[in-house]
Amino acid sequence: MADTTAVRKADASGPKLTPETFKQLRDLIYEKTGIHFQDNKTYLLESRLLPRLNACRCQTFESYINFLRFDAYRDREVTELYTVITTNETYFFRDEAQLETFMKVMIPEVMKTNAGTKQIRIWSAACSTGDEPYTLALLLRDSLPLAGWSIDILATDISENVLNIARTATYSTHSLRKVPPAMLAKYFTGTKEHQALVPLVKNMVRFMNVNLYDRPRLKLVRGMDIVFCRNCLIYFDDKAKAQIVSDLRDTLRPKGYLMIGFSETLHDTTGLFRAIHAGRSVIHEKQ
Ligand SMILES: C[S@@+](CC[C@H](N)C(=O)[O-])C[C@H]1O[C@@H](n2cnc3c(N)ncnc32)[C@H](O)[C@@H]1O
Repeated sequence: MADTTAVRKADASGPKLTPETFKQLRDLIYEKTGIHFQDNKTYLLESRLLPRLNACRCQTFESYINFLRFDAYRDREVTELYTVITTNETYFFRDEAQLETFMKVMIPEVMKTNAGTKQIRIWSAACSTGDEPYTLALLLRDSLPLAGWSIDILATDISENVLNIARTATYSTHSLRKVPPAMLAKYFTGTKEHQALVPLVKNMVRFMNVNLYDRPRLKLVRGMDIVFCRNCLIYFDDKAKAQIVSDLRDTLRPKGYLMIGFSETLHDTTGLFRAIHAGRSVIHEKQ
């Protein structure tokens, strides 16, 4: 399911999606991204993609389809396309109950398991502009029992645009509205409008471009203690979602945890994870 907000109004005289081209484009998008557009989404797709046609100098949707199939820059264009058909909504300290469970339940369990190595590996798998992985970094940096532990946070997204913002680690007051004031004072510097995260916390997170629908790419990620994949699975149909959830499972070490979005569920994945009601949220333990 794709987000339907902020649809741009299509120019009446501009390129149009015929039913046939809509089907071709829809199938191509599904093949490359796992996102499925239903028949009633023609107008949404048309209006969202018009700026991409302009950017690629395509006069028609047919030539845009050819661009996506054959152009030397087709891989880069798929990530651009992705950016316009999904939403990047995120902010620091999103879903407080889940973060409480992370610190009070998941991290203590991981610390018991990894007491020998004193290492924790976390993956924020659809990190958008970095607010989520930096929130985790802030919580871990501020936690006394973790002094002396090595913490590695991998943060990935399919969109290079959001990753570039994440790498700057500079945020508006709107993104930071839920950060506890003491942490804001301790870990951010700058003006009221734009606050920069201090290098001590910024450097705890490394960013990479990863498409979660790219199976060979996911095979390169292994040994994670905790994977966050919040507010992203909603984009995929059941088949693509089952593939991604199964591949995410393989990136975890035995009994590692998956945290999905507060309003998301893991249908048809029985046997892969055990759902545990922990604190005020549900976490999924690898089986
Ligand atoms: C709504 S944001 C969620 C950000 C953060 N996890 C949160 O909950 O605040 C969804 C993110 O998923 C990313 N995304 C969507 N499909 C993806 C895919 N196939 N692979 C990697 N990232 C994807 C989008 O680019 C977007 O940044």
